Amino acid sequence: MSRPEVLLVSPMMPAPLQALQRRCDVHDLHGAEDPEALLAEVGPRVRAVAGFGGVSAGLIGRLPVLEIIANIGVGYDGVDVAAAAARNIVVTNTPDVLTDEVADLTLGLLIATVRRIPQADRFLRAGKWLQGAFPLSASLRGKTVGILGLGRIGEAIAARCAAFGLNIEWHSRRQRPDIAWRWRESPVALARACDFLIVVAPGGAGTRNLVNADVLAALGPQGVLINVARGSVVDEPALVSALQNGTIAAAGLDVFADEPRVPDALVAMDNVVLLPHVGSASVDTRNAMSQLVVDNLFSWFDGAGPLTPVPETPWRRLAGNGFNAG
Ligand code: 8YV
Repeated sequence: MSRPEVLLVSPMMPAPLQALQRRCDVHDLHGAEDPEALLAEVGPRVRAVAGFGGVSAGLIGRLPVLEIIANIGVGYDGVDVAAAAARNIVVTNTPDVLTDEVADLTLGLLIATVRRIPQADRFLRAGKWLQGAFPLSASLRGKTVGILGLGRIGEAIAARCAAFGLNIEWHSRRQRPDIAWRWRESPVALARACDFLIVVAPGGAGTRNLVNADVLAALGPQGVLINVARGSVVDEPALVSALQNGTIAAAGLDVFADEPRVPDALVAMDNVVLLPHVGSASVDTRNAMSQLVVDNLFSWFDGAGPLTPVPETPWRRLAGNGFNAG
């Protein structure tokens, strides 16, 4: 049998990539000198796409025998899932393997933002300690965290917040009877009830600007916003205004509306902690994510179906004639 052809749309960790290359012909669109020429040449033969996001309906349209899109990331808002589903193309993501890593980073960002850790570091380096003590910060003690989006990562964040003695409330589109923490009926109600609002809802059209000016106003002048989800979930201009006007106190942001571009206004502020989308960015976890992508592809090419298909493209074995999505 001929080797499957795979199109890589973003970097992949070296060891999983080598494993993929042993079994498949991998075409690196991301690193190609002339992506258009590469696509014209190999597009008609590509059976699988791998990489983080960047899979538009236009790209899918260029790949007539495409069977599977394996996204390196739990969030797959960068993949046009509707276009994939319309052609029975399976989309997979990388759940679970990054949950604890992202939750750890979130707690780090929360504490850094509330206790002003980066600002204190800058203060010391600037020699200001010699002139006097660093100004006192706000505190986590006795505070309530609001988790906006209680999926796997949201729950892992909540568990860590509980261990830190924080009170927890949450909002997701669907209420969950298995959760003991208090559910609030809307993002505004959650923001009103909490001190620290942690955004961990999936990106995409359904959550665009879910955190808007009303939610920020409800969070209030002592409130802190933490976003580790997607920049699109927060109305970024409204957030900039809220921080400038004192509508909220501070923000810790790992994600932005137009990455890697970050508004100058945010960069200039001292009451924000800014990270370059590093929630899952450890060597171990990025290896695990890439490996799960490779495992999904190998399982698919073996005819055993995808390991972690997304709900929009469920997979079922078709009686008699193999397999398909849908
Ligand atoms: C990564 C993420 O930054 O999983 C996601 O949805 O946003 C992050 O884990 C991304 O997958 C890039 O590799």
